[in-house]
Amino acid sequence: MDFKVIPLTEDLGAEISGVDVSAPISAEVLKCIKQTWFERGVILFRKQVLTVESQTKFAECFGELQKVRTVADAHPHPAVMMVTNVKNESMKAILPEGEMQFHSDQCYYERPAAGTMLYAIEVPPTGGDTLFSDCRAAYSVLEPAVRTKCENERALFVYDYGNNPTSKDNVSGSAAPRYAHPVFRTHPETGRKSIYVNRLMTDHIIGKSETESRNLLEALYVVQESSRFIYRHKWQVGDVILWDNRCVLHARTDFDPNSRRMLQRVTIAGDRPY
Ligand code: SIN
Repeated sequence: MDFKVIPLTEDLGAEISGVDVSAPISAEVLKCIKQTWFERGVILFRKQVLTVESQTKFAECFGELQKVRTVADAHPHPAVMMVTNVKNESMKAILPEGEMQFHSDQCYYERPAAGTMLYAIEVPPTGGDTLFSDCRAAYSVLEPAVRTKCENERALFVYDYGNNPTSKDNVSGSAAPRYAHPVFRTHPETGRKSIYVNRLMTDHIIGKSETESRNLLEALYVVQESSRFIYRHKWQVGDVILWDNRCVLHARTDFDPNSRRMLQRVTIAGDRPY
């Protein structure tokens, strides 16, 4: 099979063809895949056939797997979670339905996931797309005044699976996990800066008045959510996507709850953002 990298947008995302991710991958090809992941933020492999074992094995090529922390007993494998609206006695349906606002996985922990990998098992005929935002590109076009006001600032990230799994309701339970991280973070591999705050999981910028924090965050969200920085992925069965939570946000569009959607998710452990 010919290894090929096909960009998905000008700066963000790449489809990689010619690789069966369930089979052993040579060191040379793996190096190219990792480099593409760092440069493009999102990598896509089509027409894959994976089990829990082969997906977790492939994900381990990118780092240590992150055990699921937010939901107890999500899946018999400690690092796997099913993002699905399909009810099944033997597994928990997590993030089952509805639109999900932009976010970065696990940003409410001290060490958020570096990467997230989804494998599409069932997809609805329409809707349930995943949107990816290139937060490096968004950072690069920020108005100097906004950038200066947020540079070196930290924000509190909170997420409540119980109350607001898909949109922010401003009433996060006191037990909801939370952690403060830089508003702009630096990618440990590329050294590039990104806007790290996000609409779903950022509570406020620490040390600013409520109004200033709200206005600054809105100014950042508007840039992140601008269509020129977004890749919209329409899922096909067999798609495997790995994105880099350190520089890319993701969101989900709504879909008919009567259609089945099932994605098998694994995350890669990450470092403390700086
Ligand atoms: C997620 O945030 O991990 C879920 C994304 C999706 O369902 O498309």
